[in-house]
Amino acid sequence: MEYAIEVHGLTKKFGNFKAVDNLNLKVKRGEIFGLLGPNGAGKTTTIRMICGLMNQTEGSIKVYGYKIPEERKEAIKIIGYMAQRFSLYEDLTVYENMEFFGRLYGINGINLRERIIELLNFLELNEFKDRLAGKLSGGMRQRLALGVALLHKPKLLILDEPTAGVDPPIRRAFWGYLRGLNKEDVTILITTHYMDEAENCDRIGLMNRGRLIAIGSPRELKRMAFGGDLVEIKVQGRIDELKDFRILEKKVDGENCSLKILLSDASLELPKLLKYMDGAGLKILCAETINVTLEEVFIRMVMES
Ligand SMILES: Nc1ncnc2c1ncn2[C@@H]1O[C@H](COP(=O)(O)OP(=O)(O)OP(=O)(O)O)[C@@H](O)[C@H]1O
Ligand SMILES: [Mg+2]
Repeated sequence: MEYAIEVHGLTKKFGNFKAVDNLNLKVKRGEIFGLLGPNGAGKTTTIRMICGLMNQTEGSIKVYGYKIPEERKEAIKIIGYMAQRFSLYEDLTVYENMEFFGRLYGINGINLRERIIELLNFLELNEFKDRLAGKLSGGMRQRLALGVALLHKPKLLILDEPTAGVDPPIRRAFWGYLRGLNKEDVTILITTHYMDEAENCDRIGLMNRGRLIAIGSPRELKRMAFGGDLVEIKVQGRIDELKDFRILEKKVDGENCSLKILLSDASLELPKLLKYMDGAGLKILCAETINVTLEEVFIRMVMES
């Protein structure tokens, strides 16, 4: 069993509306998988079905081999879930919230106390352990909610927009915790609207209107969106065309010429291209691959889907 999550033909209908439409998805064990997509794309609905909180209309779901919803009871023991709108008990302290949810998971006594302390230290919440949850800042609340989701040492952590509304340094720290957990072999399924965060994922699934429109590593998605790697080369000399290479843009500046060229794989073709230019008597002033952002990929793919 190499997959943490296997989803096949997953569909959710609300009346006649398909919120999730024939979704096929496999999340490998040990990976950080990002589910991206505009508002209403169906991310939360997908996650809720994977966690067994909502029944699918059609299709099959397996979590570490357990069928959902049939074997939901077994599956939830290994899933840690942080909902998009999670709730904590505002009139309980940080420690008391952890204690309360720990007992719900069936952890008690010394085991619970040790686990809470371990998590409070890991999430740098120890100094706030006696503060009421209702008095925490947004970033502290997110950490406490993560702590609650981690109490029972889940193998699969499912986070629905865990960093919405928190500032960049706190989001960065939060990703530090996630990477730490991932090193300990925790598989992570996460949704986010922050594209800089999505760069941290091993693979990304892009959803729009209930459908999965693309899947791959950030680098693969960038290549898919543009049909290859973009490189920018500045040369001294005249160029009208380049045998075998596609020029997307050309700017002439005196006797220099700046070109944007599309290569199917820059690591293989860029050396060939430079050799060809050199052979054609052009003096190469600079050559670099253009760093396409995931945001551009996202917008392009969603608009075209
Ligand atoms: N219980 C429900 N009844 C009817 N429609 C629903 C229900 N839950 C979700 N929907 C609809 O299903 C669609 C997908 O919603 P979902 O919450 O899964 O999107 P999302 O990708 O998580 O969006 P966001 O990024 O805004 O969180 C939306 O059009 C939403 O209005
Ligand atoms: Mg959502």
